Amino acid sequence: MPIPQLPKEYDQLDQWNTLMFLYNAALQEIQTRVNILSDEFQHINNYNPIEHVKARIKTAESIVKKLKRLGFEATIDNMYLELHDIAGIRIICSFTSDIYYLADAISRQDDIKVLMVKDYIANPKPNGYRSYHMVVSVPIYLSSGQVEMKVEIQIRTIAMDFWASLEHKIHYKFEGDAPAHMRENLKECADMVAVLDERMMALNASLQQAGEEKQV
Ligand code: GTP
Ligand code: MG
Repeated sequence: MPIPQLPKEYDQLDQWNTLMFLYNAALQEIQTRVNILSDEFQHINNYNPIEHVKARIKTAESIVKKLKRLGFEATIDNMYLELHDIAGIRIICSFTSDIYYLADAISRQDDIKVLMVKDYIANPKPNGYRSYHMVVSVPIYLSSGQVEMKVEIQIRTIAMDFWASLEHKIHYKFEGDAPAHMRENLKECADMVAVLDERMMALNASLQQAGEEKQV
């Protein structure tokens, strides 16, 4: 994906500010689409598939850190070309089925391109991490044309999120070198989370079915 051809009006503007403005616009765009899908889902199924949504732009400090870690010079070009998680949105769903529903619905939108998918639910990481990750590009319509911006979308259940936030704290605290017993404990909890998600989803499916039968 080439660096966006920014409209002339932006020539004098600091490139950094321009990119930040564009990533912000991309986040807003994706958030709106997710909200509409959520409203439609609620309209059809009578429950909200989304518990909450968090959106963030990576800080300058962690952009530079990541570029360095990947072996790139900290330049605006490298930032745009090499990093795919500068704009990030995390969607916390009620049930695993809602994750795939949303991921599919987002992917099917004509002007959204799916650049990368990592399904850590079907293929959990060795530490037990589960979550569905997508990197997409979305067009931002400016006054004189459009630019494609990348957004990382992470979709997980409340239980997966609960696990990931504790794992993150432990990982951070021990600088990636947590004691074996804690890692084992975390892995066991991850397996329990997977079972819990399955059972909650089955219960909800029964609830939905009972609701339908009652209506007829
Ligand atoms: P990063 O360089 O960390 O962005 O990873 P990546 O480019 O290899 O991508 P990946 O899709 O594996 O991970 C992206 C993001 O998912 C991370 O920045 C975290 O927010 C989250 N994540 C991935 N793996 C783990 C994990 O083992 N534990 C937790 N708590 N979060 C994770
Ligand atoms: Mg990241």
